[in-house]
Amino acid sequence: MPIRLLSTTLIDQIAAGEVIERPASVVKELIENALDAGARRIDIEIEQGGLELMRVRDDGGGIESAQLALAVQRHATSKIASMDDLEAVASLGFRGEALPSIGSVARLRLCSRTPGADTASELQVEGGVLSGPRPAAHPVGTTVEVRDLFYNVPARRRFVRTEPTEFGHIARTVERLGLAAPQVAMRLKHNARLVLDLPAAGDEAARDQRVARVLGVEFPARSLRLAQDGAVQLYGWLGLPTASRANTEAQFWFVNGRPVRDRLLGNAARLGYRDVLYHGRHPAYVLDLRLDPRLVDVNAHPTKLELRFRDSRAVHDFVFRAIERALATRGVATQAASGELALPAALALPAALATPAALATPATSTAGRHYAIGEPAAPPLAVLPPAADSREDQPLGTPIAQLHGLYILAQNRRGLILVDMHAAHERVLYEALKIQHATQAPASQRLLEPLALSVAEHELDLLMAALEDFRRLGFELDRLAPTQLAVRAVPALLAHGDVPDMLRAIIHDLSAERGAHHLEASAQRVLAAIACRSAIHAQRRLTLPEMSALLRQMETTERAGQCNHGRPTWTEVSLAELDRLFLRGR
Ligand SMILES: Nc1ncnc2c1ncn2[C@@H]1O[C@H](COP(=O)(O)OP(=O)(O)OP(=O)(O)O)[C@@H](O)[C@H]1O
Ligand SMILES: [Mg+2]
Repeated sequence: MPIRLLSTTLIDQIAAGEVIERPASVVKELIENALDAGARRIDIEIEQGGLELMRVRDDGGGIESAQLALAVQRHATSKIASMDDLEAVASLGFRGEALPSIGSVARLRLCSRTPGADTASELQVEGGVLSGPRPAAHPVGTTVEVRDLFYNVPARRRFVRTEPTEFGHIARTVERLGLAAPQVAMRLKHNARLVLDLPAAGDEAARDQRVARVLGVEFPARSLRLAQDGAVQLYGWLGLPTASRANTEAQFWFVNGRPVRDRLLGNAARLGYRDVLYHGRHPAYVLDLRLDPRLVDVNAHPTKLELRFRDSRAVHDFVFRAIERALATRGVATQAASGELALPAALALPAALATPAALATPATSTAGRHYAIGEPAAPPLAVLPPAADSREDQPLGTPIAQLHGLYILAQNRRGLILVDMHAAHERVLYEALKIQHATQAPASQRLLEPLALSVAEHELDLLMAALEDFRRLGFELDRLAPTQLAVRAVPALLAHGDVPDMLRAIIHDLSAERGAHHLEASAQRVLAAIACRSAIHAQRRLTLPEMSALLRQMETTERAGQCNHGRPTWTEVSLAELDRLFLRGR
C-alpha cells in the first residue's frame, strides 16, 4: 500500500484507544472536566454499566455556544496556551483530547450554559460528524451525555466486561475523584438507583465522613492524620496497621490533588510501612503530595495516571521517611500531649525539592517543620494523660497477673490493660536491635567449634546475597559447598540459644519475605527474624518485676503498639467500658 494520511475520524479513534479504555475512563474524563470548570456539585448517571449511557452534569462555568464545536476538536483546550503553562499545569486536563476521543467512539451530546448567556446551547457528535450548536434548555453549567460506547469500534467493545464489573470500575473512579475533591458534592446513580452520595465536605469532620464512606466507617479512627507543612507537603490519612487489608485497593494517592497510580509513590509508602506490616498485608491510606507543579511532569502518560518527578529519589525518600516517622511515633507513650511532633533532622526537606520560587515563600525554611497528628484513636493505641509518678499513672500501668501463659493483665488509672507478651517483647527487642545495629559494632561471639549446617541451595543463595548484613550483625558465615554452611560466630544475643534452629528459622523467614521489600531492608529483616526468634514464648512464666520491666520498655519503645508483623501488642479496656459490660450506673 502507498503511504497516505489517515482520515481525521480514524486518527481520533486511534488516539481514543489510549485515553478511553472502558466506560470508567469516560466517567473519569467527564468528572475531571467538571472539576476543572469549578463545579460545586456533580451528578453522574449511569445505565447498564455505562455501555448504554453515561451522563455527567455539573454546575461549573460552562462553555460558550461559539466554543462548543472547538471543545470536541482534537488539541483544542482552554487550559494551557504555552509550554510554560504545561510545565506548571494545575488543572486536571490539558491535552484537549478527552471529548474528541469520546466523540469518536460513542454518541456524544454536550449541553452547556455560561453565567453570562441567556440560553444554553447543545451540540451532538456522531461518527465524527457534528450537529449544532442549537439552543437548548439548561441551567448554568454543563451536561455531557455519552451513549453506546464503542458502537463503531467492535474490537474494543469485545474487551468490555460485564455490567457489574464495568460499573464497579466507574464507582471506584467516582470514589477516587471524590477523595481528590472533597469540597465538591457528588452523586452517582446506576440504573436510576442512587449508589453513592457524597455531600460537599467543607470541614475536617465532613472530610472524615467522606473518607469513611469510601474506606469504611472504622478507617478514620484507625488512621493518623498527616498534615505536613513546607515546600513539599504530605496530607491525608495514614491507616494504622490495624486498618491494613489483604489487597491494595484501599490505597489512594494524589499529587497536587490529581489522582495517580504511581509506582514510585506506592513503593515509598510500602517501605514506610515495612516495619509495622508484614506477611501479605497491605496498608490503607489516602495521601496527597503537594509540591511545586514544575517539579512534576504530568504529561508522562496518556491517561495521566503516572507521573515523572524531576527528582524522583528525593520524593521517594521524603515520602518514605515521612510515613515511617509518623507510624513510628505511634507507640505507647511517645505521643506528645499536643499531638504535635518535631520533625527529626532526617526528615528535613531534600534540597533538590526546594525550587527557587518555592524558596521565596517564608514557609520553606527546613528548620522547625513539623507535622500534626490527630486525636488518639480507639484502643489499642489510646494514650493516657501524663500525671503523678505512681505506676498506675504510667500508660501501661501495674502488672497483676499472667493469663494462660500468653497475656499480661495490668491495671492503670483508666481501667485494665492486656498485653500480648510475645508480640510486645518481639517489638521491644527489634527496636533495640535496630538501634544497636545503627550505632554500634556488633557484639559477636565466636563459637568454640564452627558449626556445620546444611541448607537448601536456593535459601543459601539468598543468605549469601545478604552476607554483608549478617556480618554487620555479628555473624561469621562461610559457604563450604552449594548446600553447606559453616557458622563461626554469631551475635552475642543469640549465643545462648539453639543456634542452628534459630539460623534455620531466620533463613526461612528471609526466603518467605523474599522480594517483598526493598534491598536496603534486608538487615532489618534479619533483625526482625532474630527478634521474633528470641522473644519470650508462650508458657514462659514471668515474675511481676519481669512483667513490669516489659511494660516500662514498651512505653519507651517506638512502634510498641504493633508487633513486627503489624498485629497489636496491647489493648485497653476502660472503666467506663467495664461499667457498661455490667450495666453499672444505669
Ligand atoms: N464540563 C465542562 N465545563 C466547562 N468546560 C468544559 C467542560 N468539559 C469540557 N470543557 C471545555 O472543553 C475543552 C475540551 O475538553 P477536553 O476534556 O477534551 O480537553 P481538556 O480537558 O482541555 O484536556 P484533557 O484531554 O487532558 O482532558 C476544555 O479545555 C474546556 O474548555
Ligand atoms: Mg478534559
